[in-house]
Amino acid sequence: MGSNNISAEDRERLIKAARAAAKRAYAPYSQFRVGAALLTGTGEIFAGCNVENASYGLTNCAERTAVFAAIARSGPKLRIRALAVLNAKELPCAPCGACRQVIFEFGPQAIIFFPTAQGWKQAHITELLPEGFRLK
Ligand code: THU
Repeated sequence: MGSNNISAEDRERLIKAARAAAKRAYAPYSQFRVGAALLTGTGEIFAGCNVENASYGLTNCAERTAVFAAIARSGPKLRIRALAVLNAKELPCAPCGACRQVIFEFGPQAIIFFPTAQGWKQAHITELLPEGFRLK
């Protein structure tokens, strides 16, 4: 899996940024406001929130918004070291399957932090997405 240790300080920075992003969510249909924040290989943090749509399937999850924002701001060499996701209601919030695949593209060694019914969990992306798809 390779070593990718995330300090307690970086973990807290990520959770704080994700919490702030959840407040900016556009979720009038589900009322489930989600925030995500990622730490890059160069130490920057980028955040995103879910953006829903009246045509439900067009909704963009918070994690993908964070990834796309990072690339839009910093370019395609993005390396995701870690990502935290949460929702404003403090309910369990593991990343969905589509977001796992998108995170894996830029962070095959990423550590993911998310709330479960048993409290915060930390998992390697490959634990959440075994055999992630790659073209090369
Ligand atoms: N959602 C996320 O933002 N991230 C996830 O990983 C799971 C689901 C959002 C999508 C939708 O706006 C709301 O949560 C309810 O599904």
